[in-house]
Amino acid sequence: DFEKMNITKIKKSKNNKKLTVITAYDALFAKLFKNIADMILVGDSLNMSFAGKPDTLSATLDQMIYHTNAVCNGASDAFVIMDMPFGTYNNKKEALENAVKVYAQTKAAAIKVEGGKDRAEIIEHLTKNSIAVMGHIGLMPQYVRSEGGYKVRGKTKEDKEKLIKDALAVEKAGAFAIVIEGTMSDVAKEISQAVKIPTIGIGAGKDTDGQVLVWSDMLGFFEEFKPKFVRHYLNGAALVKEAVGKYRNDVQDSTFPAKEEEY
Ligand code: KIV
Ligand code: NA
Repeated sequence: DFEKMNITKIKKSKNNKKLTVITAYDALFAKLFKNIADMILVGDSLNMSFAGKPDTLSATLDQMIYHTNAVCNGASDAFVIMDMPFGTYNNKKEALENAVKVYAQTKAAAIKVEGGKDRAEIIEHLTKNSIAVMGHIGLMPQYVRSEGGYKVRGKTKEDKEKLIKDALAVEKAGAFAIVIEGTMSDVAKEISQAVKIPTIGIGAGKDTDGQVLVWSDMLGFFEEFKPKFVRHYLNGAALVKEAVGKYRNDVQDSTFPAKEEEY
């Protein structure tokens, strides 16, 4: 029994129903995910998984808008969130101009920005100007170069306290939900109890208010390695290779196309 999401329902789901979020980058897969996942995130992770880049930092606003339109075309009634790429929300004015561009050029319901207390003023400027914002704290991939790598967060008491402050600041700034990535489970649990808006975890344990996974990771299309927090629900890569191999065999022995596949 699927119920289409909106901001009000998302907020009400806290302590009521766990939220299922999946990424999508194109119309084909968005269409498969809609009416199953509560929200579809057009993540800037597409810069890695689809564009083959080493990190998310080089994704551009126009690329994100292109993919968001593709996703919205495939899943017109889904709750679609677009990741604001690195460098497009460095100050209030720029953030609002770019967010307005996203609303003008796509049907995205909301945008997502990485950052805690340091970005709260920018988030507040967006939400006060009628942009729905999802926060993103904990391990933040857009900070990979400035932090010198991807590090699991919340391992010290200091970091735990910083993360709770980040979450509270993002909530106060008007975000409707917060992604908590790569964070110790007990810390993610405490954050989830400290805020009234839903938390969506990825690599943050089971006590967040929902989960998000990158579609190509959870469907097993990414073969290089499986991060600890990913569960494979399909052996995508193996199935695809097997299928393409069968196709090649059929081409080579001329059993494809068959009579009924001819004009
Ligand atoms: O870019 C992305 O896919 C994300 C999720 C992992 C939360 O930000
Ligand atoms: Na992202």
